[in-house]
Amino acid sequence: MATIRLGDEAPNFTAETSEGTINFHEWLGDSWGILFSHPADYTPVCTTELGTVARYTDEFKKRNVKVVALSVDGVESHHGWIKDINETQNTTVNFPIIADEDGKVSELYDMIHPNADSKLTVRSVFVIDNNKKVKLMITYPASTGRNFDELLRVVDSLQLTAYHKVATPANWQNGDDCVVVPAIATADIPAIFPKGFTEVKPYLRMTPQPNLD
Ligand code: BEZ
Repeated sequence: MATIRLGDEAPNFTAETSEGTINFHEWLGDSWGILFSHPADYTPVCTTELGTVARYTDEFKKRNVKVVALSVDGVESHHGWIKDINETQNTTVNFPIIADEDGKVSELYDMIHPNADSKLTVRSVFVIDNNKKVKLMITYPASTGRNFDELLRVVDSLQLTAYHKVATPANWQNGDDCVVVPAIATADIPAIFPKGFTEVKPYLRMTPQPNLD
């Protein structure tokens, strides 16, 4: 297993999923991607998580993000569990779940943390950009379900900062003012950010979010 770091190419793999065999890079195509693992099928927190992701389909689509889940259970188990998710979470699971029975993908992405559990994957999240680069990684324990509003928020930040010379401050939400990146001299800001800016300190310059009308 190689350590994955931000900026690395997301390791490619071919795997069985609830929607057939996928080659990860081909499946991603030109989209952004979220690969997220959960400990096991037919478990309560995971059921709510996958239901939530399915209900957020339109939000992921708007952002050009394809979502794929993973657990170490098999395809048949995934199919049975998806029925339960759809029934109990009032949704339709419409993204693939990788059946990583041999642990190949979990190993590749370091999703098994033996001091947490020797066999089951933790709740890993990898956000991958449209050039297949890993842009963000978050890891939660089995006992803590993820906040998928936070995942949408970080995707908004990643996509904004990929195209504009801004960074997003603490607790930023889409639409809030942004930080001008330190590499831009204050004298150059008006030409780059015509909406204006506020110099709070020479190193802290705020500007309205540039990609909004
Ligand atoms: C769950 O998804 O509910 C869960 C899975 C493994 C351990 C604890 C909770």
